[in-house]
Order: sequence, then structure tokens, then C-alpha cells
Amino acid sequence: MKAIKIFAITGSTRKNSSNFKILKHISAHIKPNFEVEIFEDLDRIPHFNSDLDTENPPEEINLLRNKIIGADGIIICTPEYVFSLPGSLKNALEWCVSTTIFSNKKVGLITASASGEMGHEQLLLIMKTLEAKFDDNTQLLIQGIRGKIDAEGKIINEGTEVALQNFINNFENQFL
Ligand SMILES: Cc1cc2nc3c(=O)[nH]c(=O)nc-3n(C[C@H](O)[C@H](O)[C@H](O)COP(=O)(O)O)c2cc1C
Repeated sequence: MKAIKIFAITGSTRKNSSNFKILKHISAHIKPNFEVEIFEDLDRIPHFNSDLDTENPPEEINLLRNKIIGADGIIICTPEYVFSLPGSLKNALEWCVSTTIFSNKKVGLITASASGEMGHEQLLLIMKTLEAKFDDNTQLLIQGIRGKIDAEGKIINEGTEVALQNFINNFENQFL
């Protein structure tokens, strides 16, 4: 059976990121016919500049766009920074505005943060604007994340574990 390719982006670039650990958790718990690649080069994406958004954009942009184009689905898992999306994630998404690469693309959207409400709302609005395909079953806000995951990436809160498993099941079901 052909693997279903998922390209996963975390909005946190720090080493011990809870959001990165959540993506690892998803990779470990999603059905074996799904292949999850976690993007680790978000901090290498140049600052968006319309003047560079030409037929020949920077190489890193071609690489990112091709990963999105080649994936059957995308998962974004991000913290909220100062009531919004982390700048590096928003920057990467800005590079997608002039394209249609997210149009009708199946996406799963998670904000895992201390609070995260406003950042999550903005993430949904941005991805809706990019015409990505998601609904209430494929988006999730996890608040108080630092107390819900341990250093090894184990989910230590039962409600969060269930919510994440429901998210994974709903995300998978889109590909049935
Ligand atoms: C620059 C900065 C701004 C932050 N602003 C917010 C915020 O507005 N809302 C919030 O819920 N958490 C905020 N936080 C806390 C993050 O939610 C928390 O550090 C989270 O664990 C980061 O995710 P990570 O573990 O994947 O890096 C902020 C953290 C940083 C470093």
C-alpha cells in the first residue's frame, strides 16, 4: 500500500519544544500507513519580501513549497507568542500567500501553549485564507502545555492524551 505522506511543521524552533514533542507523539501514534516528516528548517526560511517572491524565489522557499506540494496532508503544531503566531511560522506562511499550494490541502492544526487562544484563532484564520481544508475535528487547542507533557515527550494528562488521539483519528479519517 502506498504511504500517505504527512509534512509536519512546528512553530517552535527551540530544542526542547513541547510542540516538537507533540509532533513526535503524533508520528508514533498515527496509523503505520502514514509517513510523517517533521520540518526542522523553519529557522532557515528567509524573511518574506515580495521583491524576492518571483518565479525564482530563494532555494529554501522552493524546498518548503515542494514539501507542501508533495504531501498528502499537513500538520501544523505551534505555540502562541505574544498573542499571535510565532514570527518564524507566520513568515513561512507568508511565502505561501502568492501560491495555491494549500488550496484544498488536508491540514490538521494544533496550538499547544500556555494559553494560546488568540494565536489559535489567527492560525485558523490564516489557514482558511490559504484555502486549506480542515474543520472542528481537525483542529485542537491545548492550553497549559508545559504541565501536560514530560521531558521525554510523554503526554501526562489524560484529557490531553484523549484529545490528541481523537485529533489523530479524525485527521486519519479524512484519507479513508
Ligand atoms: C517570546 C515568547 C512569547 C510567548 N507568548 C505567549 C503568549 O502570548 N501566549 C501563550 O500562551 N504563551 C506564550 N509563551 C509561552 C509559550 O506558550 C510556552 O513557552 C510554550 O511552551 C512554547 O512552546 P514550545 O515548548 O513548543 O517551545 C511565550 C513564549 C515566548 C518564548
